[in-house]
Order: sequence, then C-alpha cells, then structure tokens
Amino acid sequence: MRSTLMSMLLVMSMILAACGGAAPAPTAPPAAQPEAPAQPEAPASGAVGVTPTDLTGISSEITDLPAVFNAEAARQYAGTTLRFYGDAIGLGSDMDKAMAAKFSEETGINVVVLPRPQDATEFYAQIQRFFQAQSTETDVFMMDVIWPGAFATHLYDVSDIFAAEAKLHYPNIVENNTVDGKLTALPWFGDFGMLFYRTDLLQEYGYNAPPTTWDELEEIAKTVQEGERAKGNPNFVGFVWQGAAYEGLTCNLLEWFYSQDAGTFLQDGTVTINNPQAVAALERAAGWVGSISPKGVVSYREEDARNVFQGGNAMFMRNWPYAYSAADTDDSPIKDKFDVAPLPVTAPGQPAGTVGGWQLAISNYSQNKGAAVEFVRYATSPQMQKWRALVGTFVPTIPIVSEDEEVIEAMPFLRNLSPVVRVTRPSRETGELYNEASTIIFQSANEALLGSTSAADALARAEQQLQRLIR
Ligand code: GLC
Repeated sequence: MRSTLMSMLLVMSMILAACGGAAPAPTAPPAAQPEAPAQPEAPASGAVGVTPTDLTGISSEITDLPAVFNAEAARQYAGTTLRFYGDAIGLGSDMDKAMAAKFSEETGINVVVLPRPQDATEFYAQIQRFFQAQSTETDVFMMDVIWPGAFATHLYDVSDIFAAEAKLHYPNIVENNTVDGKLTALPWFGDFGMLFYRTDLLQEYGYNAPPTTWDELEEIAKTVQEGERAKGNPNFVGFVWQGAAYEGLTCNLLEWFYSQDAGTFLQDGTVTINNPQAVAALERAAGWVGSISPKGVVSYREEDARNVFQGGNAMFMRNWPYAYSAADTDDSPIKDKFDVAPLPVTAPGQPAGTVGGWQLAISNYSQNKGAAVEFVRYATSPQMQKWRALVGTFVPTIPIVSEDEEVIEAMPFLRNLSPVVRVTRPSRETGELYNEASTIIFQSANEALLGSTSAADALARAEQQLQRLIR
C-alpha cells in the first residue's frame, strides 16, 4: 500500500515537474511599450501575511469552498469591483463563480466572472486587443502556459508581492512565468493530453487493455463503431479529438508527431516540421476524418469532443484532465464506464502528452491591483488548489498539494500515465512569435485534415513559412 502510494506520488511529481519544463525563454520587451499607469492600490511588497499551507478539512463539494484566509487583508478593498476572465470549460466555469462568490462574501470585494472564450486562440486575440488598448476594464486573467513571453510587458510584476507564494509551486512553472526576471503570473493548474476510453465497451468487444499503438486504436475504434452503429446508434464514433484550426490542434499534432518519431516542429533553432514520419502522422490523422472520427472533427475544440464522449457516443477521446471530473459527475451517462491511458505510439515513438496549463495574471492597466492581488493569492493558494483538484480534477502546481493523499485518490488516472513523455510546444524557441508560429502549424494541419491539400504539401508550406518567421 505504502509503496503504491509512494510510486503515485512520484508519478504526480514527475508530471508536474515536467509542466513548463521547456518553458518559453524570457523575451525582450518590444521597443515602444506604454508606461504602466500609477498603481495607487498596489500593496507594498510582502505587506500581506504568507499563505497558509494546512490542507486538512478541504471539502470535495463544489459549494463548500476553503475559507478566504486573507479576508482581513482583502477587506481594505471592500466595495471594489474586480473583473476576472475565468474558465469556460467543464466544471471550471461553475467553480470560478463559486470561488468569486465566496471571496466576495468574505471580503466585500465584488468579483465579476467573465467566462473566457473556449477557444484558446480566440482568447489570445481578445487579451491582445485589451492590452493594445490598455483597457482598464479587466483586472485578472487566466494566462496560458505558452503566453508569458508574449504578454509580459502588459502584466503586473508580482515578483516581490508573491515571493513567498511562488516558492510553494514547482520551480519550472514559476520559471516559465518569469520573463526578464519579472514574475508575471502565479501558476493555477497544470494540463497534459491523455487518452480517455470506454472501459465497458472495451470489455464488451473482447479487448483486455486499451490500445498502445495507433494501429490498435484504429482497429478497436473501427470495430466498436461498426458494432454500436449496428446496434442502432448511428451517431456513435470511434475517436474524437481537437481538429479545429486553433491552438488545441497544435497540441494534438505535437502528440501525433512525437509519438510517431516525427519530432517537435522546431528543434535547436531549426524547423523540423517537414519529415517523412511527420507526413505519415498527418496522413494518418487525415484518414480518421469521416472514418473512425466524425467529419465535423475538423472544427472540434475541447468541449465538442467532450460532449460526444460524455454523451456516450465515442469509444476514445483525446482531452485534458478537466474532462475526467466532468464525465464523472452523477448525471454523466458514462460515469464509472471510462478510464484514462497514455496516448498511443507508432514505434519507435514514445507515448506523448502535450504540456498545457494556466496561470493567473493581473493586468498592468488594472485600477484595482490591491484587490486583484488578494484575489489571486486566494485563487492560487494550496487550499484552493486542493479544492480544485478534488472537485474538478484540475492538476495542482504545488507539490504539497500533489502529494496530499485525498488529492491522489481523487485523480486515480494519473498513475496510468507514468510512461508518458511531457512534450512542450516551441514557445521557448519562438518567444513573442509563438502565436504566429502555432497559427502556421494549426492552419496547415487543418487544411490537410480537411483534405484541401495533401499532408506533404501542407507540411512543406508550413516549413517555409516557419523558416521565414523565425529567421
Ligand atoms: C488547454 C491547455 C492549454 C492549451 C489549450 C489548447 O487549455 O491547458 O495550454 O493551449 O488547451 O486548446
């Protein structure tokens, strides 16, 4: 028992330690950046007490949130209204509203939760517009793990204010969020791609284990799809994933590539996206569209895939950990009928999971920085991360939370993922150009999936465009 627990702790720590492993390099700020406005409300560095680390008594009920331990410090900002761009997928949106309500109740600070666009690329564009306009309308944002390099100059420097809190988190995620020595955001949760599968159907169709190769996945998906359709469900599909032209496709493509020995798009300053294994991997995925995957998968994002899988209409799904808690709720048709495995490989590739994850950042243009600091302090705290892990299977970024026994129990799937290599998107190599680089990548891949161009042509063009972009 003890050794099982220890090995799970180790897996969890390894996974989290890998998050942000190949982090975006600190990038130089653009030449002409506007001055940050005066910060009348900003607290002096280290002015507020250190976040407590006692994790006992944290509930797994969505309505039973941890106490606002910093309520006293926060109450000096009572009457302020904070606008927070929070989550919009899975249980995340309801959890953010519950968190905001609890914080408001105990501090008198009103928090308006704006659900982020579900599409990470759209969210990026929206934040970019806010920052270009130096909009004072939004105070706190979710920040994707790939964004600190691009947005650093617009983010409030929390290096001193959160010096103690930063020490609680995995150092490489903090490093990922640090640009030119400035801490731009506190980590909120980690993410990685994984394969969800239906345990009941696997057994029913005579398979004793989830697939470990892409060939096996295709075979099982085809068999179960044909069987379920013959039984009278014309909507049943073998495999759902994220094929729309947005950031999520870059994440899927990276997993297809790495797991089939096709590299990681860019390596050591060289564009490596166009190679025979890469062409084969993209051709394989294009072959899924309209066969084991629905035709519409070319416009699927996370929630489209989850709706199909959770509705009981797919054998396999590629998604992030949030989808586990959502599919495991009492009213989910597949509760207790699914599990998680590493994404498959084609030898000599290794099982891969793209590293994702989100931080909480405060806008430089916020007029409510003091209140925002207290909100972020509460939202990213060990207590809150434990609650988020228990309720929403959001992966903690704080080792003492990952190692908590109740948290380990709430995320049993993590122990299946020990062989997975956590691959990072090339945000280190491309810095501020990452979004453009990813756009080239996902647009080319999406065209190949649509069949409007061949995989070979799509990758040859992406190669040229990336070379022009990063030279
Ligand atoms: C998840 C990941 C994030 C990624 C996004 C793509 O939210 O955490 O890093 O960019 O998915 O859709």
